[in-house]
Amino acid sequence: MRRQAKAAAQLPPPEQRPRHVGIIMDGNGRWAKRRALPRTAGHAAGSETFRRVATHARDRGIQALTVYAFSTENWRRPKDEVDAILDLLARYLREAIQSMARDGVRLRFLGDLSVLPAPLLALVREADAVARTVEGMVVSVGFNYGGRDEILRAARTLSARCQAGLLAPEQIDEALFSSLLDTAPLPPLDLLIRPSGEFRLSNFLLWQAAYAELYFTNVLWPDFSPAEFDRALSAFAARERRYGGVS
Ligand code: FPP
Repeated sequence: MRRQAKAAAQLPPPEQRPRHVGIIMDGNGRWAKRRALPRTAGHAAGSETFRRVATHARDRGIQALTVYAFSTENWRRPKDEVDAILDLLARYLREAIQSMARDGVRLRFLGDLSVLPAPLLALVREADAVARTVEGMVVSVGFNYGGRDEILRAARTLSARCQAGLLAPEQIDEALFSSLLDTAPLPPLDLLIRPSGEFRLSNFLLWQAAYAELYFTNVLWPDFSPAEFDRALSAFAARERRYGGVS
């Protein structure tokens, strides 16, 4: 009991917590390898961690959680691994359709989902329809997502508007550009977490990470615990954010 009170006391007050947290869910493969399990077992464990961490983030008052589940480059993985991740996504979608309203979690996606198999796309649409009726923390899942692809899609839209005479190039500013990104309705990204000891963005939220605080840990994603999430919150609260200015 006393230990619990101490852990709670170390948490930063709500006003010092990030509004929007991004997570690169990395290390599933290594987690499985260390246990002599197939990589797909690592992804299954990783999807359980995702559920736990999302609920915990909601309980910590985070407004938006954005996770990287599948990149535009991940299609290069072996077919059985890709199929296993698509299955985990389908299972999560079925659950979310039932539980979003009860849990106060609104699911949405980043990335180009048009390439998904038709049954999965139907589930995405169904989840989307439910999400529109739900209030609560927004959980965005990056699937077939790439930061460069997202920026290119926005650039193409702007070019088309210019070509059609609807927009002058000098009217393009950061606010307009941001409004065309997949994260448009979300608050600015405050904190980006990458587990598994890698120090890369790996094409995740490239535009949005411009002023995000970065938090790296060696923990592999399936082992990432609510306590680790709280450590990231404490580290965030201790950072001084200057946005290019002086303090
Ligand atoms: C990176 O670890 C992880 C992925 C490419 C897939 C992440 C997918 C999930 C957590 C589950 C599915 C998602 C949902 C929304 C239910 P890695 O395989 O690159 O690990 P490694 O670097 O150790 O090999």
